[in-house]
Amino acid sequence: MSAPAVESHGTGTTIAGGSTPTPERSGASHRPLPLIRRADPDDAAAIARVKVETWRTAYRGLLPDALLDGLDPNDDAAFRHRGLETLSPDRVAYVADLAGTVAGFVTAGRERSGRHPGYRGEVYAIYVVERLQRQGIGRALIRAAATELVRRGLVPILIWTLYDNPRSRAWYEAQGGVAVGEKRELFAGHELHEVGYGWTDPAPLLAFTRS
Ligand SMILES: CC(C)(COP(=O)(O)OP(=O)(O)OC[C@H]1O[C@@H](n2cnc3c(N)ncnc32)[C@H](O)[C@@H]1OP(=O)(O)O)[C@@H](O)C(=O)NCCC(=O)NCCS
Repeated sequence: MSAPAVESHGTGTTIAGGSTPTPERSGASHRPLPLIRRADPDDAAAIARVKVETWRTAYRGLLPDALLDGLDPNDDAAFRHRGLETLSPDRVAYVADLAGTVAGFVTAGRERSGRHPGYRGEVYAIYVVERLQRQGIGRALIRAAATELVRRGLVPILIWTLYDNPRSRAWYEAQGGVAVGEKRELFAGHELHEVGYGWTDPAPLLAFTRS
């Protein structure tokens, strides 16, 4: 792919191709942010671990224990390895790499369902492991994904999250998202009630903010 890469510069990250490298640090504690880089097939197992670990912490009490405890990172890793090997040009995947450990990931691309014609782009998934949440990693990930969606003309942008998940909803609202619809989908025999957040103007997702 010819897209600009997100590169590391010491303790910060910058998006190559931008005019001025922007060092990112969390303001209060000056914790270094991880490197935001494109995911490759070798990241599949780590991405699967992050997803399963984050589902089990973030969705405990929202989804049945049996469903969460039954998630198998190995199944997910195999699926993701195939997906990353054959990543369609319409899709992007980034990881937050903290000294060689994947702390979070984001996947995004063309809106998948075709049922929301007003939205050309979609963030499919964004997860940061619980112990590293609220340190600016999610912002850095979504900024990388949104930058790519904008570059490909895949705007406006849509993201689905669990309707009954006040934390993720508050986060999307803090990033300028507006609730634009609801849907119900079956996942492993369980009905997921989801709410869609939309960004007609992606600017809030692209902005650099200190946290
Ligand atoms: C949602 C998630 C990806 C956000 O990532 P994160 O690294 O925790 O978020 P960040 O630290 O980058 O957030 C940065 C900004 O959002 C604010 N913020 C963080 N959590 C917030 C919350 N729950 N409510 C409101 N604002 C919040 C921060 O104050 C900060 O604001 P600023 O940029 O104006 O300074 C992450 O918390 C997560 O994986 N949650 C569990 C799984 C989940 O629900 N994923 C979404 C599935 S669709």
